[in-house]
Amino acid sequence: MEAGREAATIATARKRLHVITWGCQMNVYDSGRMADVLAPLGYAPAAVPEGADMVILNTCHIRDKAAEKVFSELGRLRRMKEATGGRMILAVAGCVAQAEGAEILARAPYVDIVLGPQTYHRLPEMVARASRAGNKVIETDFPAEDKFDHLPDAAAPQGITAFLTIQEGCDKFCSFCVVPYTRGAEQSRSAATVIAEARRLVAQGAVEISLLGQNVNAWHGTEGWGLGRLLRAMAEIPGLKRLRYTTSHPRDMDDDLIAAHRDLPTLMPFLHLPVQSGSDRILFAMNRKHTADEYRAVVRKLRDARPDLALSSDFIVGHPGETEQDFEATMQLVRDVTFPMAYSFKYSPRPGTPAAGAPIQVPEAEKDRRLQALQALLREQQAAFSASCVGLTMPVLFTGTGRHLGQIAGRSPYLQPVHVTGPAELIGTEQPVTITATHPNSLAGTVSQERRRA
Ligand code: 5AD
Ligand code: SF4
Repeated sequence: MEAGREAATIATARKRLHVITWGCQMNVYDSGRMADVLAPLGYAPAAVPEGADMVILNTCHIRDKAAEKVFSELGRLRRMKEATGGRMILAVAGCVAQAEGAEILARAPYVDIVLGPQTYHRLPEMVARASRAGNKVIETDFPAEDKFDHLPDAAAPQGITAFLTIQEGCDKFCSFCVVPYTRGAEQSRSAATVIAEARRLVAQGAVEISLLGQNVNAWHGTEGWGLGRLLRAMAEIPGLKRLRYTTSHPRDMDDDLIAAHRDLPTLMPFLHLPVQSGSDRILFAMNRKHTADEYRAVVRKLRDARPDLALSSDFIVGHPGETEQDFEATMQLVRDVTFPMAYSFKYSPRPGTPAAGAPIQVPEAEKDRRLQALQALLREQQAAFSASCVGLTMPVLFTGTGRHLGQIAGRSPYLQPVHVTGPAELIGTEQPVTITATHPNSLAGTVSQERRRA
């Protein structure tokens, strides 16, 4: 799920740290952990990069032009660094750092540290090395030790809705994807550490936790558990009202996980389950290891377990070799399954991945046309889903004030933004809300009379 570009702010007394984050929720989580690991060195959040002692760019390489965006941001930061007499430490982290490594230092020699996603726990030592005048540090190896064992407990509270990385990396090697190369092999954190972190998040005020992983339902802990068992254990944590997990692979939706959707009211009835394409030929070329009908069958099982379940998905149009007929199969799958929310992308060749070298690339204009057609269908489905919510009463977790005076806002079980007129004291609680109207990107409602206590 795209978090977009976000300026995380992390500040205190002695030194100032500014982190710029691109890409997925996992990068947002990682940025928080980098701030946590630097806090004992005296680094605290700075809202802006100007005058900061250290700036970290946490980058994403999943699709087009990622490296160009990083270099253009670096050009801007170079001038700020010069304004500090060269004192500002500039670090490039994340997947572009992992993929481009030395290229970054060659093109932007004013960068001090280049570090891949598996080395964040070593940041304090890298900062110490870089602080010695003129030293450059590159750490893009996959270290033998597990970074999670070496990171301090997450320190900064995340708020009412929190994210928790339980799994990282991927062994699936889809033809188009850089993740197995940038994030490395699939690695699971132990159930014990994950549950302990969840308890801390709840003690700090979290009411909803989203478990994160590139292949989150491949999580197996170090105890040989499955994700279903972990969700059951997490549902026992007092005060935790909502659970989600993302991103899943259809092949890893095992029966116990599906049963957890039936058994756990705290597990939200909304699942991001990327399918990428509805054509068996393209799914095979993508190395997805399932057919379109196998995906339909998983969805059927999930809906049998949890009839109010709604799905979101990721789609790629214009994968090498995709014909008009293949694309039509994707459209048909969307019509069959229906997705109230979805992300769709034009295929973008990633250097070093198998699909990038495939002989039959789809012309750009054709990719554009297919993307527009797919997005029009997905928009229709999203609007129909929102309209179908009017008149329903659904629990809304309020997370803040709304845009207008006297309004509070939160999320439905389906992650739809919902706003109501209501008192600020309801923020942090889940309340039954009757939906009265749809707006382009949100729903309006009224809090039902039988308000629940926090
Ligand atoms: N081109 C286009 N989309 C891609 N994704 C991953 N790699 C590529 C690529 N090379 C999309 C997939 C994935 C989502 C996170 O990004 O749909 O599920
Ligand atoms: Fe990439 Fe496929 Fe792994 Fe998802 S499952 S991270 S798309 S390789």
